[in-house]
Amino acid sequence: MPHNFLSQIGPSQRGNMRSLAKATWTFVAVLFLATCAHADARLDAAMDAIVTRLYASNNLEQLQALDEAKLAEYITPGDRAALASAYWTFDVDVPVVVSVMRHMDQAQVPFWLEESGFAKTDLVVKNESNNYAVWQKKFDAGHVGLGMNGFDGHRFSYFASVGPQNAGDVVKITNLVPAHPPMLTMEPGAMTYIDWTELVLTEAPESLRGHALLTTFRGRARETHLTGGGFRETLFPASDKPDQITLTWNGDPKTSQAVLWRTNTAVKTGAARFSEKGSDARQMVDATLETIDDRMLANDRTSHRFTAVLSGLKPGTTYVYQVGEASRDVWSDVYEFTTAPENGDTFSFAFLTDTHNRETAGKALAAAYARTPRPAFTLISGDLVDFGLHRDTWDKLFAYMGEPLARYPTLPAIGNHDDQDGLGPGTFLKQFALPDINFDGIPTERAYSVRYANALFLVLPIGISIDSLRDWMEKELSATDATWKFALYHFPVYTNAARYQNDYDQQREKWGALFDKYHLDFMLTGHTHRYNRTNPIRNGKEVTSAKDGTYYVVSAPGFYQTIDIKGNRLEYTSHDPDGVVKDHVVVEK
Ligand SMILES: [Fe+2]
Ligand SMILES: [Fe+2]
Repeated sequence: MPHNFLSQIGPSQRGNMRSLAKATWTFVAVLFLATCAHADARLDAAMDAIVTRLYASNNLEQLQALDEAKLAEYITPGDRAALASAYWTFDVDVPVVVSVMRHMDQAQVPFWLEESGFAKTDLVVKNESNNYAVWQKKFDAGHVGLGMNGFDGHRFSYFASVGPQNAGDVVKITNLVPAHPPMLTMEPGAMTYIDWTELVLTEAPESLRGHALLTTFRGRARETHLTGGGFRETLFPASDKPDQITLTWNGDPKTSQAVLWRTNTAVKTGAARFSEKGSDARQMVDATLETIDDRMLANDRTSHRFTAVLSGLKPGTTYVYQVGEASRDVWSDVYEFTTAPENGDTFSFAFLTDTHNRETAGKALAAAYARTPRPAFTLISGDLVDFGLHRDTWDKLFAYMGEPLARYPTLPAIGNHDDQDGLGPGTFLKQFALPDINFDGIPTERAYSVRYANALFLVLPIGISIDSLRDWMEKELSATDATWKFALYHFPVYTNAARYQNDYDQQREKWGALFDKYHLDFMLTGHTHRYNRTNPIRNGKEVTSAKDGTYYVVSAPGFYQTIDIKGNRLEYTSHDPDGVVKDHVVVEK
C-alpha cells in the first residue's frame, strides 16, 4: 500500500508519539474467537474470600499498598491450597513432566512453584519479546493442578507444556480447565497467548519439543492480582439515583428505543416512563436488571444496570422520557429522543473513535452535537475505554460523555481495549442493549446492523473471525436496498501508520472484494490514534470516483466526524480536537 494513497492529517507530533507508543503496547490481532475461559471455581471462591476479608479491615490506601507479606495475613490455608492448585487443572493417562514457562521479568516468583515441588531448570524458552525460565515437575498418571500466576498482575503470564516421562508414551490430556482452544505442540513458531497470536516462540529447547503446549492469555494475570495497585477506585460511584443514562437500539430505530442507566445495589427495580412530546398520554415500561461486579473496585464493587426497551413508537416522532423507580417514585431528569423517519433521506450522524474514557472525547461529542445540522446518533468505532473489564473506566466514559448519551443513540463497536487480553467484552455487553443477529460464529450483540432512513450501518467487533464477519456482511449487503452503506470496525483496513502496514491483509483480502461488489461507501475505523483517509479504493487500487470505490477512514482520539446525508448527496467533515476542519469530502450518487 503506497503512502500516496492516503491523505494524512494528524494531531501534534508529541500527541502522536504518546498515543502511538500506547497503541504499540496494546496491539493485538485476534484471528479467531477468544473464549472467555474460567478457572476452577475453587480459585474464584478463594479470591472472593480473600478480597472480602481485605475490604473488612483496610482502606483504599492500605489496599493499594499491599505487599505479599501483608497479604499473607488474609490468606487461609484453604485459600492457599486453591491458589496453588486450582488455576489450571487437567488429567493425564501416563507419567508426565510438566514445564512451567515463567517470564523472567516477573519480579514475584509464584509462591506455589517451589512449595509444590517444581524445580528451576537451566532451560530457556523465548519469543520475540520475552525470555522464559523453565520450571519442571514430574507427575504420576492422574490429576495435575497448577497454581496461579502471582499476585502482581504480571501481564505475560506463564504458559505450560506437558510431555511423557517415558520415551514412547503418548500423553492424553483430559478435563482441561480452563479449556480454551487451541492446545498446540511445543516448537518454534507456536504461539502461546491466544490474544496475541503473532507473538510466536523463537526458541524452544530440544527436550521440550513435541510436548503438548498449553496456550493461555495475558488477561489471566488479573485473576489473582492483589498487590501493586490491583485494587482500584471509581471517581463516580453509583447512587440510588439513576445516572449514566444511555440510548442504544436493539430494534427498529423507527419504532423502538432502548435506554440504559445505572444505580447502586439498593435499587432493585427500574422503569422508564415516556410520552409523545406535548401529549399527556404517558406509558411506562419495566426494565430488566443486570449486576456488574468488579471485585477489585474498592469503593463501589457492585452496581446495577437497568435496560428498558420502549417499543410501539411512531416513526419520526419526538418523545420525552424519564428513567427511575416506580415504587419509590424516584425519577431522572426529563430527556427527549426522536425516532427514525419512516421514509426520510435527510439526516446527519457523528462518528468518533478511541474515546478511551478521556475528557477530550466528551468535548468532541459535545462539539459534534453543538453544530447544525445536529447529528441523530453517534458511531464509536471501539476502544471506548482503556480497560474493558474495569468499571471505573466506564464510569469515566459516561461521566465525560454526559447528556448527549441520553438524547442521541450510540452505536458502539468493540475495540481491543473493550475486549482485552482475551478476557472478553463482558462489561461492554452489559453497558449497551444491541441487536441480536443470530448468526453462526458470531455471539450475540457483538456484530449488528442498523438501518436508519436511506442508510445501512454494519457494526463489526474485534475478536470474531474475519471469515464469519465477511459471511454476515454479505448476507446484510446482498439484502439491503439502502442508498448509503457504512461499516464500523476498530482496526484499520488501510493505514499509513508504518508499524501497522502488514497487520490487516486479512481484512483487505477477505472484505475488500465484498465491499467492491456491494459498493460500501465508507469504512470507518480507529485504533492507530492517527487520522488517515484514503481516496476511493476498488480492488486494492485508488480510483478517481467515489461511485467506483470505498473511502477507508481511520480517525483518532479527540477528533469528531459529522456525516450529512441529503438524498443522494453526502458530506463528510472531520474536525481535529481544536474543532478545526481537517478533512472534507462530498459524494454525489
Ligand atoms: Fe485506542
Ligand atoms: Fe485499539
